[in-house]
Amino acid sequence: MVVPRVVVLNAKGGCGKTTLATSLAACAAGRHRPVRLLDLDPLGAALAWSRRRPTSLPPVRAIAADRVPLGVTRTFLLGGAEHDEIVIFDTPAGLGRPTIDLLVRDAAAVLVPVLPSSVDIAVAPRVVADALLAGCPKEALAVVANRVRSRTRAFASLTLFLQSLTIPFVAALRDSQSYVAATAEGRGIHELDTPAARKEQESWIPLLEWLSARGIDLRPPPPTVPSGIPADAAESTPYSEDVFRNDEPKP
Ligand SMILES: Nc1ncnc2c1ncn2[C@@H]1O[C@H](COP(=O)(O)OP(=O)(O)OP(=O)(O)O)[C@@H](O)[C@H]1O
Ligand SMILES: [Mg+2]
Repeated sequence: MVVPRVVVLNAKGGCGKTTLATSLAACAAGRHRPVRLLDLDPLGAALAWSRRRPTSLPPVRAIAADRVPLGVTRTFLLGGAEHDEIVIFDTPAGLGRPTIDLLVRDAAAVLVPVLPSSVDIAVAPRVVADALLAGCPKEALAVVANRVRSRTRAFASLTLFLQSLTIPFVAALRDSQSYVAATAEGRGIHELDTPAARKEQESWIPLLEWLSARGIDLRPPPPTVPSGIPADAAESTPYSEDVFRNDEPKP
C-alpha cells in the first residue's frame, strides 16, 4: 500500500510550515480520513497544536517524530501507516539533507510556503532545488505564497519570483489573524466559522484542488444547504485573482 505523504518544507523559519501542516491535517480529519501528523520539529509546535485541539473535533493523531531514531522514522515513512491514513509532515527550518531525501522521495506532495520577504524569496530556489535533487517528483512540488498582502513591493517581487519558477504556485494565503486564532485553538482554518476565516478558506481552494489531483482529497464536504435556498446560492466563490484585491486598503 502506498501511503499518501504530504511534506511541508522550507529551510527558512517562520514561513508558515506548521500553519499549513496543521490546517491540512484538520482538513483530512474533517473528511473523516485517518490522519497522522508527524512533527519533526524539536520545538513541537504541531504537537502542541494537536494537544489544544478540542475533543469535539475529529481527531488528528500527532506524533513527535524528531525524537524517533532514524530507522524508526523510516518505518513511519515507508510503512506502519494504517489503511487509508494520510501522513502529513511538519518539518523544522534547516532540516538536514539526509532527512529531506527520506521525506520527499515518492512523496505525493511537497509544499513550500514562501513569505513575501526578500530573505524568503532568496532562500526558496535552494529549497526547491534541494527537494528536486533529493528525488522529489517535479509534479509533486508546489509553492504556497503565505502572509500575502497585495499592493506591496514585496508581494510584487514574490509574484515575479513565483512566475520565474517552473514549479506551480498553487495558492496565495493572506496575512490574517484568523490563522493565528485557529492555531491557538488547535483548529484548522476551515474549522473557524467567522466571516474573516471563511474569506481565508476561499484562498485554499486551488491548493486543495491541486492536492486532490494528486490523489489526496482534503476538500471540505459541501455545506448542507437549508431547504428553500437554491444550492448554487450557497456555493463558495471560486479562486480568482480577486483574492489579492480583498485585502486592499479601503479608499
Ligand atoms: N497567513 C498567515 N497570516 C497571519 N499569520 C500567520 C500566517 N501564517 C502563519 N502565521 C503566523 O506566523 C508565525 C509563524 O508561522 P508558523 O509557525 O506556521 O511557521 P513555521 O514555518 O512553522 O515556523 P518554524 O520554522 O519556526 O517552525 C505564527 O505565529 C503563525 O501564527
Ligand atoms: Mg513550525
